[in-house]
Amino acid sequence: MTNSNLPDLDYESIDSWDTLIFLYNSALKEVGTKIEILSDEFQYIHKYNPIEHVKSRIKSPKSIVSKLRRDGREATLENMVRYVNDIAGIRIICSFTSDIYRIADMIAKQSDLKIISLKDYIKNPKESGYKSYHMILAVPIFLSDHVVDTKVELQIRTVAQDFWASLEHKIYYKFEGNAPEHISRELRNCAKIVAKLDEKMLSLNEEIHALPEENTAEL
Ligand code: GTP
Ligand code: MG
Repeated sequence: MTNSNLPDLDYESIDSWDTLIFLYNSALKEVGTKIEILSDEFQYIHKYNPIEHVKSRIKSPKSIVSKLRRDGREATLENMVRYVNDIAGIRIICSFTSDIYRIADMIAKQSDLKIISLKDYIKNPKESGYKSYHMILAVPIFLSDHVVDTKVELQIRTVAQDFWASLEHKIYYKFEGNAPEHISRELRNCAKIVAKLDEKMLSLNEEIHALPEENTAEL
């Protein structure tokens, strides 16, 4: 989906950097609470928690400005709100690949969240080997006299995919995007090993779950 298809976000009410950061912080709190509730409910009903951990962050001013510059845009507040989708970012790390879609589905069903775009890098990995499920959401922030739809980027991936992505990210920055060929090749190999590991862990988990109750001790 292109940016021209974005819902009409309320640019006028964002009149300063402080307002912008306040809104994105509020959006992180809103989505963070939703994830926490889903996680608690899942634990309560299924005695199992698909969420290993959750990380969230506000993009630094320097990164926001350099992203806009990279795209040939002026660093104005309106451009930040309009074009930088990951000022507020949340990452959900789960155990198994099947959990990724389960979580994405639970989020997608929440009627007050709008899904602006979805990118499934699990089904269609990046050339680097990167795998993750991305959602850009708009969450309503209820202020004293109006409501502002605010964007949050949600990334969902497994522990193993996250391990890979952090190392790849470090390498990318170290070589400013131009890593030597053998390193990129090794990383792509590691991505295949990660995929294999995730697959094995999932099938082992399914096998354990298929066992009768008395054979499984509570963890
Ligand atoms: P930006 O990459 O942020 O400019 O946005 P985009 O529109 O290309 O979206 P995309 O979904 O491709 O990437 C969003 C975010 O996902 C990035 O900011 C990174 O955090 C993460 N990401 C995307 N591709 C890679 C990758 O190849 N390696 C790693 N480590 N992270 C990635
Ligand atoms: Mg990108």
